Amino acid sequence: MNAQAARVPHNEPAYLSVWGLEAYYGESYIVQNISFNVHEGEILALLGRNGAGKTSTLRAIARLDNPELKHGEVWLDHQPLHKMRSHEAAAAGIGFVPEDRRIIPGLTVEENLQLAQIAPPIGWSIERVYDLFPRLGERRRQEGVTLSGGEQQMLSIARALCRDIKVLLLDEPYEGLAPVIVDEIEKTLAVIKDQGITTILVEQNAVRALNLADRSVILDTGGIVFDGSAQEVLDNAELRAEYLAI
Ligand SMILES: Nc1ncnc2c1ncn2[C@@H]1O[C@H](COP(=O)(O)OP(=O)(O)O)[C@@H](O)[C@H]1O
Ligand SMILES: [Mg+2]
Repeated sequence: MNAQAARVPHNEPAYLSVWGLEAYYGESYIVQNISFNVHEGEILALLGRNGAGKTSTLRAIARLDNPELKHGEVWLDHQPLHKMRSHEAAAAGIGFVPEDRRIIPGLTVEENLQLAQIAPPIGWSIERVYDLFPRLGERRRQEGVTLSGGEQQMLSIARALCRDIKVLLLDEPYEGLAPVIVDEIEKTLAVIKDQGITTILVEQNAVRALNLADRSVILDTGGIVFDGSAQEVLDNAELRAEYLAI
């Protein structure tokens, strides 16, 4: 058995399993041997200070080019994402909503959604998406980039749902949004969970994320420092002060 194989637990993968993930930006070793499981239908809060490696971990799971995944395995519903390119991971059920939201300029709300449905497997219908996000239905003819920040976040999540996804990866969806808008987005995340979709929620607003999440993984300098229930983190002032500054 080589050293790499020794780090990978030889048990059945969970619904989403991350095993011994090691990823680099050039020579910089950033994601440092990260392993955790996500159960089907749960919301996992992936937390940690700025620069802890949260975005890099999401990007490695989504199989984006940077950071480069050099070691480790990622399994989603028995599919080996670590062997895939990003478009293949997307087709396998990964829906990545990046921090900057990436609304496509020059397209209306509806055109942004239609574009997500160009290639199969197609997920929610546009009407179903408007049921979840009535504001998007009201603004369907408006150019996507002219929406408010909260509406753009909704559009970005809605676009992910227009594909047939198993797991939603959300990178700081509440960033820069007023509390009432965060309330609204939280409600939609609860509905998305009820529909059976699994979510990894990366947030700086850790209290909000922990109140919504089932479980939490906390990162610090590219490694895992906590893996347990969200309630345990809420109850552990020391842990929160040390790694989340709350
Ligand atoms: N494109 C990049 N090139 C080199 N280093 C990067 C790049 N992006 C992030 N990093 C570094 O990787 C570390 C983790 O960053 P990141 O995953 O963005 O953390 P978080 O999302 O938790 O704030 C940080 O030290 C950051 O400076
Ligand atoms: Mg980040």
